[in-house]
Amino acid sequence: MNINKASFVISAVSNAQYPKDNLPEIALAGRSNVGKSSFINTLINRKNLVRTSSKPGKTRTLNFYHINDAFYFVDVPGYGYAKVSKTERNKWGQMIEEYIETRESLRVVVLILDIRHEPSKEDLQMINYLRYYEIPILIIATKMDKISKTKQLQYVNKMNKYLEDESIEVIPFSAITKENKDKIWKILKNYL
Ligand code: GTP
Ligand code: MG
Repeated sequence: MNINKASFVISAVSNAQYPKDNLPEIALAGRSNVGKSSFINTLINRKNLVRTSSKPGKTRTLNFYHINDAFYFVDVPGYGYAKVSKTERNKWGQMIEEYIETRESLRVVVLILDIRHEPSKEDLQMINYLRYYEIPILIIATKMDKISKTKQLQYVNKMNKYLEDESIEVIPFSAITKENKDKIWKILKNYL
């Protein structure tokens, strides 16, 4: 994908603030600090348009990025960050539910998992939740630069077996080596 324009548009906490131009949206989901923001930066060839951090819990709002005047990436705050109060967690839940369950222009959710670890209870809940609302899912197993080719293959096979769902692809990825970036764009383009 040729990216000739990419800009931050808005940090939203409720649907009144979402963009109103009906362009298709690709949303990111995943555990806090797993690499969601880095994934977007890599896909759009920008080092730092989307804020990333070694400290978890950086992204707290739904952040909309306008790409090529054609679609949006929506960076969603991660779950599973322990140092968050119950009130804040509830607010997070409401914000995500409102977006996932009501947003007509949401085409696909890219779920980012860490290829080094088994999916957490929350990861599996997220998969089931998206399936329930019939939202297409693309699973990105990130940080593939940290493990061997053999282990990468094992992870993908295991996930495929677990999911038993040919409509959900599992693609290893690295924001460092940019491996599989083109393959991922090919898949995402089908949703735009
Ligand atoms: P929150 O916004 O806090 O939920 O985090 P996030 O999911 O947006 O993660 P972010 O992109 O900020 O990355 C978290 C950390 O993981 C940063 O230190 C990144 O440099 C690192 N990271 C992200 N992707 C990769 C990758 O593919 N490989 C390696 N080795 N590190 C990565
Ligand atoms: Mg982030």
